[in-house]
Amino acid sequence: MIRSIHAAQRLDSRGCPTVQVELTTEKGTFRAIVPSGASTGINEAVELRDGDESAYGGRGVQGAVLNIQNVIGPSLLESNFRVDTDQKKIDQFLKELDGTKNKERLGANGILGVSMACARAGAAHSGIPLYEFLRREAGANYPFVMPVPFFNVLNGGVHSGNKMAFQETMIAPVGASSITEAVKMGSEVYQHLKKVIIEKFGSSAIGIGDEGGFAPPISEPHEALDLLVQAVSNAGLSGKIKFAIDPASSEFFRESKYDIGFKGATKLKTAKEMMGLYQSLLEEYPVVLLEDPFAQNDWDSWTEFNKACPVELVGDDLLVTNPVYVQMARYKDACNAMLLKINQIGTISEAIEGANLAYSYDWGVFVSHRSGEMTDDFIADLAVGLRTGHLKSGAPYGGKCLFAGSQFKSASKF
Ligand code: PGA
Ligand code: ZN
Repeated sequence: MIRSIHAAQRLDSRGCPTVQVELTTEKGTFRAIVPSGASTGINEAVELRDGDESAYGGRGVQGAVLNIQNVIGPSLLESNFRVDTDQKKIDQFLKELDGTKNKERLGANGILGVSMACARAGAAHSGIPLYEFLRREAGANYPFVMPVPFFNVLNGGVHSGNKMAFQETMIAPVGASSITEAVKMGSEVYQHLKKVIIEKFGSSAIGIGDEGGFAPPISEPHEALDLLVQAVSNAGLSGKIKFAIDPASSEFFRESKYDIGFKGATKLKTAKEMMGLYQSLLEEYPVVLLEDPFAQNDWDSWTEFNKACPVELVGDDLLVTNPVYVQMARYKDACNAMLLKINQIGTISEAIEGANLAYSYDWGVFVSHRSGEMTDDFIADLAVGLRTGHLKSGAPYGGKCLFAGSQFKSASKF
């Protein structure tokens, strides 16, 4: 059924190399391009980089490409899997072919590209859209629901050059009655935010970060949220937009303390002080979701905060989309939602397994892009297929934004 598999090196939204896969069957050629993170969790599946400093500063992916061309492709072709019915078998095969715990031999970037392309081919051969194929793979039959897009409109942390320690401050148009209206609201607030930033800091302050959000010269989370309150009010959308925060705190966790001045003068806070800071943000602003407020190895703080956390508490670096850590978090009662990033685990079937496990605990699932993206719209279908209700999509900016391009072309039928 699979006639050929071809891989190539392409550039992502940061201008860094990434893997593209083209898989051909008798029904056509199915393409997938793989995302890449900057604030990666220590337990993520391994993204294979060449390490050859003479090309792309060591960040080339020719090794991963060759692994697809020379190892994965020929083995998969020989195995004669059916793309319409065998996604789980294909993903298991890819996992075993690699043979390591974290896909470090063949590279999770290469493996994921093949897994995604197989899913696209599988949908075409089943005669159904990708989101429906993914719902079927999840063993589910619920009605489709369009997700609320969470736009990351203010960038900090390792995604920008300002002094802001917190990586992401997002707007969620929960008051929209359709995805079209949600996108419009997101775009309008984004444009108003730009004006607010210019008024406050001058026109040189509207530079953007890795996820398309602005990166003005602020350093405190209160300043970020005040800017959003102003922009939402100027857009006439007060009450219709909620906020979400991803401090990506593993990035500034140093010897049991959180250095929220890590991009300037050191400003250490204990986990207890961080809890106080989060409580004040939750009381003062309409924040509905908090992601990675504590570091990936600071499990006790997660558990303590989760006891009385009134909002969605999402594990990103903590869980790395891996069923093993999802189970551990459940055992420790550390959070109430899982972030789903397909390249953290490396195959579509394992990502779906993680989501199903989270659902079995009555947790939320938050499908997410990475800070290094491309124009592939796979995760829009995944959010619809898994009925996650929300999707972390980047700012309404640039070709990588899930909503600036064609991301919802299939899902928007609903
Ligand atoms: P990353 O960040 O894609 O750079 O890892 C995104 C996040 O932390 O959610
Ligand atoms: Zn995160």
